Amino acid sequence: MSYRVAVLASGSGSNFQALVDAPVLAESGAQVVCLLSNVPGARVLARAEAAGVPAEVVSHKDFGARGEFDAAVVGRLSEYKPDLIALAGYMRLLSPVFLRAFPTIINIHPALLPAFPGVHGIRDAFDYGVKVTGVSVHFVDEGMDTGPIIAQEALRIEEGESLEALEERIHKVEHELYPRIISWFAQGRIERQGRRVHVRSDR
Ligand code: GRF
Repeated sequence: MSYRVAVLASGSGSNFQALVDAPVLAESGAQVVCLLSNVPGARVLARAEAAGVPAEVVSHKDFGARGEFDAAVVGRLSEYKPDLIALAGYMRLLSPVFLRAFPTIINIHPALLPAFPGVHGIRDAFDYGVKVTGVSVHFVDEGMDTGPIIAQEALRIEEGESLEALEERIHKVEHELYPRIISWFAQGRIERQGRRVHVRSDR
């Protein structure tokens, strides 16, 4: 039986693409069973179609309260019976309605949390002048990038490196890290104890 992953994204979807393409995901028994976007016309929808992954669109603009929007999203996602919800550039905070509906919800963030949360993680770290930044994968709670950290990978910012070059390197790390972490979930290797998350060895 496969481990069913639902991906939520609002934009370009390069991380969605990486998940669909990664051999490590299929090897672990995980499968991306649906893509949901809150943005009609987002590029990620075309990627889903090309990859043959069922896509759903629920626009937050069609709803007044956040809870109502999330209830609609939950309704749509539930049909796919996901084991894991993976946010990948999903530009909405999750309300309790959503958080209660699924036991495992994770996100990828392009900085070393708790530094530089929010939508401009790469640029904020770069402008701050840090010498080391990176990528974090974490459980999702009600806050902005505040949930327990599952894995992080650090990257040294090179002398004279441009923001664009750094962005490219960060995305490359994301595209390798996110599938790997999800494969760990599929293998049942992730244990959560409060804020501390442990990864069991696979041997
Ligand atoms: C990624 O940098 C991810 O870390 C952040 O949003 C960006 C999404 O990029 N949460 P893409 O849409 O996957 O290309």
